[in-house]
Amino acid sequence: MTPQSIGIVAVGAYAPPGIVTNADLEKIVDTSDEWIRTRTGISRRHVAVPGTATSELALPAARLALERAGLAPEELDVIVVATCTPDMPLPSTACFVQYGLGATHAAAFDISAACTGFIYALNIITPALKVGLFRNALVIGADTLTPFTDFSDRSTCVLFGDGAGAAVLRAVPEGHGILSSYMRADGSGSEMLTIPGGGSRYPASAETIAAHQHYIHMAGNEVFKFAVRAVEDAIATALERAGLTTADVNVVIPHQANIRIIEAVQKRVNIPEERWVINIQEYSNTSAATIPIALNEAFEQERIHDGDIVLLVGFGGGLTWGATVMRW
Ligand SMILES: CC(C)(COP(=O)(O)OP(=O)(O)OC[C@H]1O[C@@H](n2cnc3c(N)ncnc32)[C@H](O)[C@@H]1OP(=O)(O)O)[C@@H](O)C(=O)NCCC(=O)NCCS
Repeated sequence: MTPQSIGIVAVGAYAPPGIVTNADLEKIVDTSDEWIRTRTGISRRHVAVPGTATSELALPAARLALERAGLAPEELDVIVVATCTPDMPLPSTACFVQYGLGATHAAAFDISAACTGFIYALNIITPALKVGLFRNALVIGADTLTPFTDFSDRSTCVLFGDGAGAAVLRAVPEGHGILSSYMRADGSGSEMLTIPGGGSRYPASAETIAAHQHYIHMAGNEVFKFAVRAVEDAIATALERAGLTTADVNVVIPHQANIRIIEAVQKRVNIPEERWVINIQEYSNTSAATIPIALNEAFEQERIHDGDIVLLVGFGGGLTWGATVMRW
């Protein structure tokens, strides 16, 4: 059997309606709208009401993608949720999504690759569809970072928000769909971006809570330098694997962590600025959700046309990084 071409046939996204502006954060920590906008590109972030589970953000995004694909939940064979903020350590968030959708014939599991999670999930599930292990897949990037954000730490609390994006994958006409993928990890940099508490290494205790270990800890400057190198590497390698060059790329969807990271990469790779989809100003960094939210926005704004080469590229904690090249 010749492996079939597999692609994204529909996307959807959801961001909670609550908004926290930079001015709101000025009232909590010693920061300013000017600092946040110029150092990060962020103006506002969508924030879920306390007690919202990540699966509750994933579900509306998933329902929209399924509706656009014309697919019933029972037709799904597999659901993958990329998240670093699961509903619970056990079971997987994907199982909550599977039950919530009524996807009664689907397998379901999570992927943990931080902000690169959506890229990892796409890249892993594509070959499984190609060889016929599954026919219809739902890949979701969803994160609720607010409960893991330390609102006494100005260097991290301005950066993160909540949201979800989803994509339906299945067979597409020959020549379309996912053309190449690339994934890497470097655990020697694991300390650069962590939520240290609440796992097996530092089980939840009064001490871990007092030490703020259940919040995001980050060496911002080091992550910044890593990110620029990683994105450049991922773009070059994924395009080379697809037999394409930067000149062939119509739309780039980068992970949205800091506008200055994107601008630094733009200076190093030869892809005109107008081809990049950027919405960090509205959503901030929603980890695994930034890429599918931006992809959904590009789709809704009709920025992607049939036959376009679309490049997704991400990086994150782990450290992890990767890219996916597809013909829409
Ligand atoms: C976090 C980040 C925005 C910090 O920006 P930066 O330009 O590197 O700033 P620095 O950390 O060097 O800090 C510069 C100064 O700004 C201050 N500062 C930090 N956060 C601030 C804030 N929210 N408001 C005002 N000042 C702030 C620092 O305290 C420091 O002050 P000092 O010079 O008096 O010590 C930036 O490093 C970054 O975005 N890194 C990547 C993070 C990332 O992408 N994470 C997710 C990966 S998926």
